Amino acid sequence: MSTYAQELRATAQAMVAPGKGVLAMDESNGTCNKRLGKVGIDQTEEMRRTYRELILTTPNLENYISGAILYDETIRQSTKDGTPFLKVMTDAGIIPGIKVDTGAKDMAGFPGEKVTEGLDGLRDRIAEYYQMGARFAKWRAVITIGDGIPSRGCIEANAHGLARYAKLCQEGGLVPIVEPEVLIDGDHTLERCYQVTEETLRTVFNQLYTQRVAFDQMILKPSMVISGKDCPNQASVNEVADATVQCLMNSVPASVAGVAFLSGGQSNQQASAHLNAMNVKYADQAPWTLTFSYARAIQQPALEAWKGKESNLSLAQKLLLHRAKCNGAAHEGQYTPEVEKELEPVTA
Ligand code: 13P
Repeated sequence: MSTYAQELRATAQAMVAPGKGVLAMDESNGTCNKRLGKVGIDQTEEMRRTYRELILTTPNLENYISGAILYDETIRQSTKDGTPFLKVMTDAGIIPGIKVDTGAKDMAGFPGEKVTEGLDGLRDRIAEYYQMGARFAKWRAVITIGDGIPSRGCIEANAHGLARYAKLCQEGGLVPIVEPEVLIDGDHTLERCYQVTEETLRTVFNQLYTQRVAFDQMILKPSMVISGKDCPNQASVNEVADATVQCLMNSVPASVAGVAFLSGGQSNQQASAHLNAMNVKYADQAPWTLTFSYARAIQQPALEAWKGKESNLSLAQKLLLHRAKCNGAAHEGQYTPEVEKELEPVTA
């Protein structure tokens, strides 16, 4: 048994504590720049730092956010007054996490498909991050639905990478977030998404088992079973909730410590509504806690309101906290139109 087993179990449980979820703020420099650029903010290291300071210094964030996933640049940064972000987080009771994959790259021999890289030197990087104070990690694999894809080769390569990463994390004291994302891009139906998600999850758990990963010391971060973005027939909130939970029930071992969904390009309100419906209907039946690990569906309104200006800081923080609160409520099955509307006077 891993020397860290008890600590890993406790961390994993804390990450999915009632009413809370994980905030993903681990965009690579390239992705963060793209998101800053889209709303007219300078794409510089200082603006990335200032933006992450805005997020991490949001008052009361810890009421709804159990842990936040950082990027290698961010985990080494500090607030303007010199307090390390890691200290800001631990003082607030927010567990620091770290993205450790090095990105999804074109897969040789598999046109249109990606395989995630980052295993080389991973043991040493995990040791450094643990020593700095990180207690969990993330690795994202990407599965694309299209004509004749995903292939078996792509699903297996990604599942193997996730499993090797997860075991290295557990050896080094970090709870692995295992993220096989089936992309929402395309015109596929909910049924097709179901098939691909089920095959992906079964393959991932097969590999996790083969690589001796302890299920009770990991968090699964799946995409929801949802209609493709361009599918003319968009499934309802209840259909997404039913299909997603059924798919997980058929493919995810009961001992997994928790499930924290990604938002994957859903609108902010959809992401909250889907999570809420799952908890309203299935919290009593599902063997795992169902919560969130959103990036865009928590950050987007704040980023748009901030625009890189100090004078918008407080409004941006209110908007960030609001989305965190809505999703915290959705984790409890208590997200209602009233909760959603609480902030309308501020934004009007
Ligand atoms: P989204 O919620 O924006 O999909 O991001 C979650 C994430 O961490 C992707 O790796």
